[in-house]
Amino acid sequence: MKTENCCIVIFGASGDLTYRKLIPALYDLYKIDRLGDDFSVLGVARTELNDDSFREKMRQTLIKHEGTEGECLEQFCRHLYYQAVNTSDKADYAKLIPRLDALHETYKTNGNTLYYLSTPPSLYGVIPECLAEHGLNKEERGWKRLIVEKPFGYDRKTAEALDVQIHRFFEEHQIYRIDHYLGKETVQNLLVLRFSNGWFEPLWNRNFIEYVEITGAESIGVEERGGYYDGSGAMRDMFQNHLLQVLAMVAMEPPAIINADSMRDEVAKVLHCLRPLTHEDMEHHLVLGQYTAAEINGKMAKGYLEEKGVPADSRTETYMALRCEIENWRWAGVPFYVRTGKRLPARVTEIVIHFKTTPHPVFSQNAPENKLIIRIQPDEAISMRFGLKKPGAGFEAKEVSMDFRYADLAGATVMTAYERLLLDAMKGDATLFARTDAVHAAWKFVQPILDYKAQGGRVYDYEAGSWGPIAADKLIAKEGKVWRKPSGLMKKKV
Ligand code: BG6
Repeated sequence: MKTENCCIVIFGASGDLTYRKLIPALYDLYKIDRLGDDFSVLGVARTELNDDSFREKMRQTLIKHEGTEGECLEQFCRHLYYQAVNTSDKADYAKLIPRLDALHETYKTNGNTLYYLSTPPSLYGVIPECLAEHGLNKEERGWKRLIVEKPFGYDRKTAEALDVQIHRFFEEHQIYRIDHYLGKETVQNLLVLRFSNGWFEPLWNRNFIEYVEITGAESIGVEERGGYYDGSGAMRDMFQNHLLQVLAMVAMEPPAIINADSMRDEVAKVLHCLRPLTHEDMEHHLVLGQYTAAEINGKMAKGYLEEKGVPADSRTETYMALRCEIENWRWAGVPFYVRTGKRLPARVTEIVIHFKTTPHPVFSQNAPENKLIIRIQPDEAISMRFGLKKPGAGFEAKEVSMDFRYADLAGATVMTAYERLLLDAMKGDATLFARTDAVHAAWKFVQPILDYKAQGGRVYDYEAGSWGPIAADKLIAKEGKVWRKPSGLMKKKV
């Protein structure tokens, strides 16, 4: 099914995200006929380009993305337009009016407009105001929707202020706060796994689950993004948004139906139930780290402080691990251990549900643990681990696994996160976008951690290519547990 005709206005059209993600995602949707022919994309930025030069840049991007050119690509590029605007100058937005009128007319788009804010965050509050100045937020003729990229705020106060600022000009139903983790097929699959199978749900609580591990590991460093990253760190870049959203999906109650309101009600409820970390908790249950230079596969990898754009005395964390709890009926007392970091040994996002052991060890003292491993990326998979009899004499139990790999679903075309989310925004489905209350609840939890660090909370060193600071192993070992080391899992044999 194709979407309603609309014009997609990308602010920040000369930026990296537009080239790497947005235009390729729109092109992929075009190829599978989800956009039809009645759509246009208007790139907006300060850079002086015209329709032709913008098209040519995007053509080159797509040829690189596709590895080939062809008629379909040429046809897509004809839908691309460009308008240079000084985005901090209200008056300059007047230039958008005739451009948009003409595009709506040509493509019969009935005034439907999707604005995508892919600019530096300092403009997230400015652009809505400037659009409103020219009536470009009004829904009298067609819908007007606003996608806001992360980070939504820099801390609790600025996130609240940004929300107030945007709400002056756009209503909540028009605002789509993007978190690309929610667009990942396997994150959504978590909901289907939990809520469409009768056998997981009865076990999914404090009576049967000992603890939950969530890992968002990356093998890359900060690459060319040192300047941005240094003002952000792992806490703002990965934890406050992506990982807390994943945690919410693991822990939420079943919504009565799958729609934007009921789903997001449940997500917000979980985040509100996160027990705030006290100073003492942070002393014991939080580890921040920064990677140092080390040899990886025979090559020297830079330390964070040597990366381009990073001040030599930076204390920005590139790793964090913490233990948290959700104070509600389902989860009381169950620790959630969450960690994320750059320059770890593998790129892997996974959730491990550790079930309680049997109440009495019949066969051996070291009965295998029951685990459910949900691999979000790469090699998307689900693996159940349990004990079976080791062949031979006696009754020794050994850990075995039953595995499912997403790639085995023959014929499945998996959309990228940006394809899925752009399509949903065009359809007006906000289910997979963060709602204002959830964003605030996440910041409320994170703010004391930011304060703790700002007041001198320790940042440990860890070698590039290692699994993070030793202190993070100790954090979990104190409670008799170890982090799973998920390298190379589930490619063929788990
Ligand atoms: C982005 C962060 O939001 O997510 C990056 O800014 C991070 O620093 C990226 O690398 C991870 O996304 P993915 O989809 O590669 O896991």
